[in-house]
Amino acid sequence: MQNYKNFLSEILIDEETLQARIVEVAAEINRDYADVQEPLVLICILRGGMVFLVDLMRHLNVLHQIDFMAISSYGRGTRESHGNIRLTLDLQSDIRDKHILLVEDIIDSGNTISYVLEFLQTRQPKSLKVCALLDKQERREAVVPIHYRGFAIPNKYVFGYGLDLDEYYRNLPFIGVVDLEKYQPPG
Ligand code: PRP
Repeated sequence: MQNYKNFLSEILIDEETLQARIVEVAAEINRDYADVQEPLVLICILRGGMVFLVDLMRHLNVLHQIDFMAISSYGRGTRESHGNIRLTLDLQSDIRDKHILLVEDIIDSGNTISYVLEFLQTRQPKSLKVCALLDKQERREAVVPIHYRGFAIPNKYVFGYGLDLDEYYRNLPFIGVVDLEKYQPPG
C-alpha cells in the first residue's frame, strides 16, 4: 500500500479547519431544528458520508436518530459517478412524517443526491433537507438543494475524511488532493 504522502499534491482542507466548520454547521442545524416536534433522522449514504456524520452528530444537541442507505450506480467506485442509480441498502426505519436530513461527504454531479431525494420524497417525510460537507459545484449536472454546506471546493480529485481512493484512505483526518500522475491503484 502506497503511503499517501507519495501522491498528495496538497492538503485542501486541514483537520482543524474541517472540525471548526463542522461545529458551525452543527450550530446551524441545532438552531433550525430546536423547536421541531416530530423526530429528526440523519440519513447517511454509505460509505463516504460516514466520517462526517459521526463528527457532526457529536456536536448536535437536538434529539435525533440515524439511519443508513446505500446505492450503486454504473461507474461508482471509479472517478466519475454516472446515472443509472439503484438502491442496494434500504433504510431500517419508516421516515413518514419525520424530519429527514441527508448527510453526504460530497456533492459532485449531483446525480446521487438527486436520485435519493426523489426516492425518499415518495415516503412522505415531514421535511427533507441536505447537508453536504463538500460542494464541487463546477461538476454539477443535476440541480440539487444544499441546505447546509461545509465547503465549496474546486474541481480537484480529493480524498480523505471519508472519501476514498480505491476504497482506501477514508481514515485520513484531512481533505487532500491526489496527484494522479503519482498515484498507483492497488494491483
Ligand atoms: C460519492 C459521494 C456521493 C457521490 C457524489 O460516493 O459519497 O455519494 O459520490 O457524487 P455525485 O454528486 O456525482 O453523484 P462514491 O460513489 O464515491 O461512493 P462512496 O460513498 O462509497 O465512497
